[in-house]
Formats: sequence, structure tokens, C-alpha cells
Amino acid sequence: MERFAETVAVDQARSTAGALAYIGDRLGLWAALAGSGPVTSRELAELTGLHERYLREWLATETAAGYLTYDPDSARFSLPAEHAAVLADESSPAALAGGFESIAAFWAVADRIADGFRSGQGVAWSEQDPRLFSGVDRFFTPLYQRSLTTEWLPALEATVAALERGGRVLDVGAGFGTSSILMAQAYPRSTFHGIDPHQGSILRARDAATKAGVAHRVTFAVGTGLDDVGTGWDLITFFDAFHHVGDPFAVARRARQSLAADGALMLVEPRAADRLEDNLNLVGLTYYGASTLVCVSDALAQDGATALGGQAGPGRLREVLTEAGFTRVRSAIETPFNLVVEARP
Ligand SMILES: C[S@@+](CC[C@H](N)C(=O)[O-])C[C@H]1O[C@@H](n2cnc3c(N)ncnc32)[C@H](O)[C@@H]1O
Repeated sequence: MERFAETVAVDQARSTAGALAYIGDRLGLWAALAGSGPVTSRELAELTGLHERYLREWLATETAAGYLTYDPDSARFSLPAEHAAVLADESSPAALAGGFESIAAFWAVADRIADGFRSGQGVAWSEQDPRLFSGVDRFFTPLYQRSLTTEWLPALEATVAALERGGRVLDVGAGFGTSSILMAQAYPRSTFHGIDPHQGSILRARDAATKAGVAHRVTFAVGTGLDDVGTGWDLITFFDAFHHVGDPFAVARRARQSLAADGALMLVEPRAADRLEDNLNLVGLTYYGASTLVCVSDALAQDGATALGGQAGPGRLREVLTEAGFTRVRSAIETPFNLVVEARP
């Protein structure tokens, strides 16, 4: 009993510290500490223009959390370089600060989701706290930057050659457009079209494409399912989006019909094993939680009876794709966080 009570107490302390880590992210404190070297609370206050008394308490919290180190002789706090790579550098492959933004959004929606447990109603992605949209994009961007064009696309049969020649790619559930833009930068002869039901994300994606200088080859439109996307696509992608759709069977069928004869469907899904008992680890805990608060609730808010959930696993995904008429379905690659599935008509 005592051991378990300690586990729960640690979870509660970490949840509280998470709110403080979120504040550090929001106020740019991690970045300030990454650039400052060891500082007292007063020096950090001068550097950031923030209130010293709050900072003193925040610094103590983060030191107790193990995020900062403290030298009692000089009363100075430091963010070690390895910690800065996780908390203060958005371009680092280890960047995780965006996760705290998503968690703030999780808490904001928790009471509505609790109501959903009673009513069965979903909460659409567009109804979530806006911090979810940026938090998720920040969480996934380092993974996409590191792996999308270097590991994931090369793991598909013949797809890179098609994109290098010049292909047409449809990115479904495109969010802020990060995946479309990264692919466009890697394959300058190809064109990309992203769709997403969330208008705010589409506006943001268009803006990002313009800033990246690829808007002439990367377009975005509000849309769900694949009703009016036409045919002949060389590649259709779903980045962390397939399990969000309310009727994945119907959408997979439409994806198959929309592909060119030699085209490919690529699903990038959260990593999961097929059986719950094999997902009882850090990744499973993270994704089951996000799935309950966001993914299942998004699917339940749409027409259709199947909410796959973020931990569907390769077996269930294969079942859906095979039922939709795909003849060749395989796990192309597995990473610690993602499962990349390739399917061909
Ligand atoms: C977790 S976000 C992923 C966004 C983006 N692909 C990324 O990787 O950052 C899931 C996205 O799926 C979108 N989505 C939900 N239902 C959809 C549907 N039926 N058709 C297309 N997109 C959908 C949501 O609006 C949301 O932008």
C-alpha cells in the first residue's frame, strides 16, 4: 500500500511540476536559462523582466523536479546543456516542451470528456483548447524533421523515386501542414495538397507554406473524408490522423479509389502493439491518455461507429485496410513513437 501511495504521490507531484514546466515554456524561461549560464533568481528576473518572487519559487520547483541544478554556495541555478536540448531548443530531435502545452489543453477539456463518458458524445478536434493544436504540432515536428524524408518515405516501395520524378501527394488530416511542407522541401518536382476539417489549422498551414516559400506547390483546403479529392494520387498520407476519422473503413475505401494504380497509402500512427497487455509502457501510457481525451473523442464526434483509438496496433490497422480493399499492407517501419504502415491497391 505504501509503495503504491508513493507512486500516486509522485504522479501528483509531477503533474503539479508539469504545470510549472508549462509556465516556463510559455514565458520563455527555458530559453532564457539555456542562454544565461548559472543565475540567481534576481539575475533571472533582470534578464527576463519577470517578478523575482515568482521566479524564486519556480526555480526551486524545477530544481526539486530535477530539471535544474542548484549551487547553494552561489545561490545560482543552471539548466544543463542536455536538459536545454529537451526543453529549450525546438529544433532539437529531443525537443519535448510542446508536450506541456498539449497537457494544458488536456486539463482544459477534461470535464467535457467526463461528460462524454456519460453521454457518449465526442469532442471534435476543432472544439479542443487551441493549445492542443500548437502543442501537438510542436511535439511531432522534431520527429517529422528527423525521420519523414530520411527514414519513413524511403521505407516505402518505390515512393521516393516517384516523388523525385514529380508526383502528386494528398496529406489527409494535415493539421498545421508541417508534414506537407517538409515533403515539398525534399521533393521539389512534386505537388502536395493537404486537407483537414479544422479551418484554423488550414489557415495556419497556408501561412506556413507561404513562409517556407513552397505555397506554389503546397495547397491546403478544409475537408473531411476524401469525397471530392479526385483520383490519380501517387501518395496519400495520414500523419497521426487515420485513427481520428469517425469511419476509417469508408475513408480507407475512398483512399484506395483515389490512388493511382501504382500509388501508395502511408499511415503514420502512434506506435502500439496489438494487445493492451503489450502496451503497458511509457509510450502506451502517453498515447492511451491522449487517445481518450482527444482521438477517440474526435472520432466519436464524427459520423461512423468505429473509433479506432490511438493504440489500435498494426493488426487492427491491417484489418481495416484489407477490408477496404487494399491487397498489400505491411508495417514499413517502427520507431519508438510511431508505426508507419504502407498499403497498396
Ligand atoms: C493529431 S492531429 C495531427 C495533425 C497533423 N497531421 C500532424 O501530424 O501534426 C489529427 C488531425 O486529424 C484531423 N482529422 C480529424 N478527423 C478527420 C477526418 N475525418 N478527415 C480528415 N482529417 C481529420 C484533425 O482535424 C487533426 O488536424
